[in-house]
Amino acid sequence: MKPRPPQLISARRLKQRIKALGKKISRDYRRRDLVLIGVLKGSFVFLADLVRSLSVPVALDFVQVSSYGASTASSGVIKIKKDVDLPLVGKDVLIVEDIVDYGYTLDYLRRFLKNKKPRSVKICALLDKPSRRKVRVPLAYKGFTVPDKFIIGYGLDYNEKLRALPYIGTL
Ligand code: IMP
Ligand code: MG
Repeated sequence: MKPRPPQLISARRLKQRIKALGKKISRDYRRRDLVLIGVLKGSFVFLADLVRSLSVPVALDFVQVSSYGASTASSGVIKIKKDVDLPLVGKDVLIVEDIVDYGYTLDYLRRFLKNKKPRSVKICALLDKPSRRKVRVPLAYKGFTVPDKFIIGYGLDYNEKLRALPYIGTL
């Protein structure tokens, strides 16, 4: 059997934090027209738990981006691989991302989605890794701050591996 990667955030803490985030988002988006946009692929586990912690109606869509560079870091050159399908005009968009590292991905996505004329665009990131930040991105909702380590599990991968790990770990 392979050794399990060291744990940084337990499944229990993830559950508690996401419940609290869901409550806050539900309060803030009452009587709004909320569309959650998951950033594929890393956000899929977080997004699945987050939607089930909401008490307001919500529509879902997805984007996928590619960033050219080493596999463990983004280069700042971002391209849209998969656009959203829903029209976002007048909607309250909340981008759901797994982790913010340099900030290039979310900085790009925020601008890209703003061009579709939604009423608002905000960001909900499960993890914030502020140590290497290159561009400022406003995080309206944030789960945890993590140290400058390579993070895996709960949707986050290393070369497509370890996404299914039920906790947040480090390599
Ligand atoms: P940024 O543009 O550097 O903020 O990159 C963010 C993206 O890089 C995230 O959506 C992740 O896909 C990936 N990423 C950054 N740090 C990690 C990590 O520690 N583990 C797994 N993926 C990461
Ligand atoms: Mg990602």
